[in-house]
Order: sequence, then C-alpha cells, then structure tokens
Amino acid sequence: ADVNLDEVYAFAINLAREAGKRILEGSAKRHQTAATLDNPNTKKNRVDLVTETDQAVEAYIKDSIAQTYPDFCFIGEESYAGGERVELTDEPTFIVDPIDGTTNFVHGLDFVCCSIGFTYKQEPVIGVIYNPFLDKLYSAQQGKGAFLNESTRLPLTHPNPAPLASLGDAVIGVEWGSDRSKAIIEKKGKMYMRLAGDGKEIEGGVMAHSLRSIGSAALNYSYVAAGQLDLYFEIGCWSWDVCAGTGIAREAGGKVYGRGGKPWSPQDLMGHHFFVVRAIADAPDGSETGEQAQDRIAKEF
Ligand code: IPD
Repeated sequence: ADVNLDEVYAFAINLAREAGKRILEGSAKRHQTAATLDNPNTKKNRVDLVTETDQAVEAYIKDSIAQTYPDFCFIGEESYAGGERVELTDEPTFIVDPIDGTTNFVHGLDFVCCSIGFTYKQEPVIGVIYNPFLDKLYSAQQGKGAFLNESTRLPLTHPNPAPLASLGDAVIGVEWGSDRSKAIIEKKGKMYMRLAGDGKEIEGGVMAHSLRSIGSAALNYSYVAAGQLDLYFEIGCWSWDVCAGTGIAREAGGKVYGRGGKPWSPQDLMGHHFFVVRAIADAPDGSETGEQAQDRIAKEF
C-alpha cells in the first residue's frame, strides 16, 4: 500500500481529539465499571482496570480507522484483551491505547490520555498522545519534529536541549505496573531504592533528584519528549502504551533502547521492556555529544 503520511498524521490528530471528547464524557461514570475482585471487566487481575469507556473509545477509534483506512492493520489494547492477536508486520498499522492511565481515570487523576501510534515498515512513524483533561496534545511525524498542541516544538527547550551531567541529577519516570507478584515487586522495589537512596547508606545508591510514578506510559514518553522527565523505564507495558510515545520521544531527540540497554529495534515495540532518555545537549567543550551523554546515562542506570 502507498501511504500518505501527512494525511494519516492529520487523521490521527483529529481522531485523538475526538476520542478525548468521549473520554471526558465517560469520566462522569468512571466508577461504574471499575474493577472489583469478581468483576469480569478486570483483565489480568484486580488492579488491571478496564472501564466501559476504554472499550467504547477503542470501538470508536477502530471503526473510524476501518472507515477511512480499511486496509490498514490495527492493534488495540481492548481488542487484544478480547482475544485479537496481530503481529507487527511491514503493513501500515495503527497501535492504539484508547485510555492510557486507566487507574488514574477511575480515580479522577488528570494523567489520562488516548495514545494513537502508527507504524509503517515496522517503524513508528506517527505518534499522537492527547490528554483531554489538561488539553495537551503531543504529536510527531518522522522527520518533521515533535510538538505540543501542534505549535510548540519539543523538547520545550528546543533547539537547545538542557544538559544532564549524571543520573544523580535526573527526575526518573518509573511505574509499579499491574504485575504485583513478589518477584516483580521486589525487583522494582530494590531498583527504586537504589535510584532514590543515598549512596552513603544504600549500596549503589544514586540519589537521583527524584522518581515519579505518573501512571501512564504514554504520558511518561511525552514528558521525556518535552524534557520534563529525564528518563523513563518500565517492564511490563505493551506496544499500545509505547508506540506513539516512541515516535514522539525520538522525534524530540530522545533515545530509546532495546531490552537490557541494547540498540533498539522495531520488534522491541512488541516486547515489554522499555527505556528512553531525553535529548541532552552536547558538552560545550566538545568532549561529548548529546547522544554519547544519553548512552552514558543509560549505562549508569
Ligand atoms: C498502564 C499504564 C501504566 C503502566 C502499565 C500500563 P493502562 O496502561 O500505562 O503506567 O505502568 O504497565 O498497562 O492499563 O492504563 O492502559
């Protein structure tokens, strides 16, 4: 298929705004289908929440795409939960999370968004993330820059990304995720202790400026793109949480890494290990490029 990326980009921006309206409307009944132990709307477990609005917004997005782009592939969180399995191929593919930050949505916290990613030949070439509660839209098309509300270039310091001397100076996005097994929570807990803790008392302690748990993978990527978070790390989320964010963060000069800090490859989108570092300024004395600084910070992590 021949794909007009400018058109798809405009379509995705419009779709995200329309989805945002429906998310706002749905927030009045956000409790109604909140998960309880025996609620069938719970996916993996009691904390992996899904509401009627997640499903309705995904259905709306999926139908709109099918009408405009009937030949394009679709990967969506709720369709996956309903049993649909789609591999990532070279075909044009929308990868969508109707509501990222569902726990925030249910609890009335503002960090909620609709995330619309688009891959072509497996590359995330378009990303649109819209937070209707804060009316902030993050978007990017490959090679054309990343923007806030379609007008402000990202990072917000563009064209001069801020320096970042070390991991100790960073604000790091982390998440608890929905896997609460001992193995996972112990591993994350130890890691967060090391990142937050004072190295004088805690072995390997980095004592970073702080850790933030925003509750939406897509918004974590958006804040990294904006330069407001320095890094974001997560094990356990899915392609629909990160596809749009990957496109936006990269276009804003951020660097994404594959599992274990390896170079990123498109199939990493379909895994569950994600790590991204914001754009960093080149050292003024020419001793290190921004990309070298990103790799150094990634290693320090
Ligand atoms: C979740 C959020 C959360 C992350 C989880 C995701 P959802 O997505 O992005 O920040 O920690 O791994 O599943 O369920 O709100 O769409």
